[in-house]
Amino acid sequence: MPLKWSDVTPKPLWLNRRQLIAGAATLLASPALARIEAAPSKYSTDAEPNSLEDISTYNNFYEFGTGKGDPASYAGGLTVDPWSVVIDGLVDKPGTYDLADVVKGQPLEERIYRFRCVEAWSMVVPWIGFQLSGLLERAGVQPGATFVAFETLLRPEEMPGQASPFIDWPYREGLRLDEAMHPLTILATGLYGEEMPKQNGAPIRLVVPWKYGFKSIKSIVRISLVDKMPLTTWNMLQPQEYGFYSNVNPKVDHPRWSQASERPLGGGLFAGRQDTLMFNGYEAEVASMYAGQDLAVDY
Ligand code: MTE
Repeated sequence: MPLKWSDVTPKPLWLNRRQLIAGAATLLASPALARIEAAPSKYSTDAEPNSLEDISTYNNFYEFGTGKGDPASYAGGLTVDPWSVVIDGLVDKPGTYDLADVVKGQPLEERIYRFRCVEAWSMVVPWIGFQLSGLLERAGVQPGATFVAFETLLRPEEMPGQASPFIDWPYREGLRLDEAMHPLTILATGLYGEEMPKQNGAPIRLVVPWKYGFKSIKSIVRISLVDKMPLTTWNMLQPQEYGFYSNVNPKVDHPRWSQASERPLGGGLFAGRQDTLMFNGYEAEVASMYAGQDLAVDY
């Protein structure tokens, strides 16, 4: 069995030196995140995870602004407890479920995944979560369901970025049902052995490691089983640039930049780029779902 990153690395080493120096005071001042116990997973990559600082200070979370540092600066005021998730549409047991109920009985695992943003940077994150399939099975997916739609919290009082008229809030995402049921697809409630930092999508977010990062919707309040391809935020904004599928694909470029390579975060200014892998390196696990599809058309 592979060891979890948190088993082999004492916490001070997760934090980089800058955090250790600047952090002594802030660590005392900010409320400690609760630890979460999770089992190691055969789905983890053995690539070395990025530092907690990289993962929690360079973020995309437009509800808190468009700058990479905005989520870390402004997400602190988000109320994540109490939290409930509506599960509705074509399910046997629709309802509004308290977060504790959503997580109940789902085996938590540490999943160390590669994460590739459509903007061509990447990192490796030790998520903690459980398979979305487990929750959907509990809710009882009805035969007519073919897609799953997700929505983020709509709360402009606590999410200053929601004042921006450019996005039709709430942030929305979607998966085809087979993608949603795939064992790599998780709902994450933490990372690095602790509950999810707010800037990373507390208290519960999606992680789909073979797709561009924007599919991995944060701070989820609604999961709907539907029979049509749902509307998704980036596709609504720029349909020629961001497709519904958005599988990581080095052979299909973004109209404004190449997707053949990526910049791994944390390597420093002069670190080289690395080749982007088909399906972000998860080809063996997921390619069969797209047999017969032209991925240049279904981008
Ligand atoms: N979810 C919501 N609700 N709002 C967002 O702006 N940004 C997406 C995705 N999920 C986003 C979101 C994008 S573009 C990326 S790359 C990832 O979150 C970033 O996740 P991270 O900040 O945890 O690295």
